[in-house]
Amino acid sequence: MPGHLPFCAPDYILQQRSSGRAEIALRAATRADAETLGRQLADIDPWARLGIGSEEMSGFLSVSTDTKRCFTILCDGDRAGVIVLRHPWLMGPYLNLFAILPGYQRTGVGRAVMAWFESEAIAAGARNAFLCVSAFNIAAIAFYRRCGYSPAAFLDDLIKDGEDEILMRKRLHRTSSSA
Ligand SMILES: CC(C)(COP(=O)(O)OP(=O)(O)OC[C@H]1O[C@@H](n2cnc3c(N)ncnc32)[C@H](O)[C@@H]1OP(=O)(O)O)[C@@H](O)C(=O)NCCC(=O)NCCS
Repeated sequence: MPGHLPFCAPDYILQQRSSGRAEIALRAATRADAETLGRQLADIDPWARLGIGSEEMSGFLSVSTDTKRCFTILCDGDRAGVIVLRHPWLMGPYLNLFAILPGYQRTGVGRAVMAWFESEAIAAGARNAFLCVSAFNIAAIAFYRRCGYSPAAFLDDLIKDGEDEILMRKRLHRTSSSA
């Protein structure tokens, strides 16, 4: 469905509540979401180690545009994380910021949100999905590899001197050799 406008709705239900499973939903981030999540993210890595403070983070989360979308991730209605994406970017969307709050990690929420991110992109005809991850963030690199992303470029000193980022890419289309 190449005419599909991805990431544009104000909210999405990614997983319905059922026995033993929480509802996972997204809503366009509100100012209150941006302030609360900005404070929470500034306290955890990678942002703590990169020196990104709560004001800078809240400011970043509070601005959505046609090409930059900020969504709060909700588990049974409670804030569980945030996703910020840019589309269009490079023959597909770019995952600009992604966080699942510590109390919700390792429960499948991150994977569910990545599946939504990719299915929206595929419906819009995107060939790729991209993201950047700090080279020191071994856990996130393992997660993204598990989700099918591979390193595409090494960006030294990208955010601050002495800290490197890895650009990762997932092909969303089938190549002729994989058909
Ligand atoms: C990295 C992060 C997004 C993963 O989200 P999550 O909800 O905890 O991950 P899930 O529970 O959906 O796990 C999905 C898969 O990744 C694997 N995975 C998740 N965290 C992992 C870790 N710390 N180490 C190794 N593998 C991991 C899981 O084993 C799982 O594999 P499986 O489905 O085959 O069992 C989340 O932990 C997070 O936000 N961390 C802090 C902030 C951060 O680093 N964000 C990324 C910045 S680029």
